Amino acid sequence: MQIVVGNEQRRLLPITEQELNLSLERTFAIIKPDAISRGQQGEILTRIHKAGFKIVAIKSMRLTKEEAGGFYAVHRERPFFGELTDFMSSGKIFALVLEAEGAILKWRDTMGATDPKKAAPGTIRRDLGTSIGNNCTHGSDAPETAAFEIGYFFSGLELI
Ligand code: RTP
Ligand code: MG
Repeated sequence: MQIVVGNEQRRLLPITEQELNLSLERTFAIIKPDAISRGQQGEILTRIHKAGFKIVAIKSMRLTKEEAGGFYAVHRERPFFGELTDFMSSGKIFALVLEAEGAILKWRDTMGATDPKKAAPGTIRRDLGTSIGNNCTHGSDAPETAAFEIGYFFSGLELI
C-alpha cells in the first residue's frame, strides 16, 4: 500500500489483521459453581457465543479455598470474603478467556449487575442467578484486572 504525505511517497509495510483490530480486547470470565451445579454451563456458553465473543481458552477445574482467596485478594478485607472463597471452592468452575471488541465492558453487560435482583432483564445474572453470592458468573472489571486474572489461570501457551 502507498500513501502520499505532502510531496513524499511512503511505502507502508504490510500489516497483519491482528494489528488492524486495535480495539480487540480480552477479558477473563468464570462460570461459577452454582451455575455448574445447576447444569447451566451450556446455556451460558450459548449466550457467550450469541453475544459475539471468541472463546480463546477454556478449562474446567476446582479451586482450593486458598486459590480462590488469591484470585479475589482485592476483597480480602470485606465481610463477605470467607463466604465468597468458600463458595468459589465449593465445586467445579469453568475458567474462560473471551475476546471481542471492548470485551471487558461487553462481558460485564452480558452478565448484568452483581446482585441478580438489580440486574437488567435478559442478562445472565438476572435470568439465572439466585442471590448476590450465587450469581453464576465472574467478569474482569478493568484492563489491569483482566491481565492479572488471565495470567492467574492460563499460561501463555494456552492463549495462542
Ligand atoms: P465478580 O468479581 O464475581 O465478577 O463480581 P462483581 O465484580 O460484580 O462484584 P465484586 O464487587 O467484585 O464482588 C465479588 C463477588 O463477591 C460477592 N459479593 N457478595 N454479600 C455481599 O454483599 C457481596 N458483595 C459481593 C458476589 O458474589 C460478587 O460476585
Ligand atoms: Mg469483581
